[in-house]
Amino acid sequence: MNRQNSAGADHFGPIFGVFLVFLVVVSSWLFIQRRWWMPRVASVHGIDIDRVFLITLAISGALFIILQGSLAYLAFRYGNARSERPKYSVRPKLEKRFALIAGIIIFGIDVTLFALGDSNWFKAWGPPPADTPVVEVMAEQFAWNFRYAGPDGVFGTTDPTLISSTNPFGLDKTDPAAVDDILSINQLHLPEGKPIRLRIRSHDVIHSFFLPYQRIKQDAVPGMQIELWFIPSRAGQYDIACSQLCGLGHYRMRAQLTVEPQDAFETWLRLAGQS
Ligand code: CUA
Repeated sequence: MNRQNSAGADHFGPIFGVFLVFLVVVSSWLFIQRRWWMPRVASVHGIDIDRVFLITLAISGALFIILQGSLAYLAFRYGNARSERPKYSVRPKLEKRFALIAGIIIFGIDVTLFALGDSNWFKAWGPPPADTPVVEVMAEQFAWNFRYAGPDGVFGTTDPTLISSTNPFGLDKTDPAAVDDILSINQLHLPEGKPIRLRIRSHDVIHSFFLPYQRIKQDAVPGMQIELWFIPSRAGQYDIACSQLCGLGHYRMRAQLTVEPQDAFETWLRLAGQS
């Protein structure tokens, strides 16, 4: 190494060190402040999802600090600028044992996180309690359409060939069960504290139905009916977003979820049915 290069390297170390400390301080501060953190949870299963998220973050965070910390320590201790040289010795038995133990630990952590995550995923995507009512969700460029079965509790027949700009579900209006179906655009109302099933579809491209406060995110895929269920636990108004890039109007494909007491919900539904 010539003189100039080593002088450059001497400067680089401290500058990089200061930058690294700055990064760690800023990101820790943002983390403690909970900036850009998830919004306050507003569904029953969301509490479990948050717990899994935090456990995953804690484990991977601890591993990150241990592994990157030891890497930084070794680089610092045996770096080029130091006179101390590491002593190399080949010890195959020890290396094998170390690899095996580390492998078992990582595998154990993986399986635990997988089991935790999956058991919680099945809570929302598994079978709902008996007699849970259904709301249909139909995504389109660039709106969310909702359909309630109406007073008869039966959804009218739909036919994809009938889908048009004024008939997003392709509702067959000659079917007597279709007469009282209640349709709503970009406004989803749900009763507070009651389980609800969502049947999610799309009639053009892939969208993603996203309720950030309720910890629900599910792709809407053309040709598929995807069901999930959840219990909105807190009354209020929440965002419904599309979280799949679906075209030029993707940014404005947002709707509103209103969670309200049962009687307010019924009043809204009755009014929506009249219009
Ligand atoms: Cu629909 Cu993005």
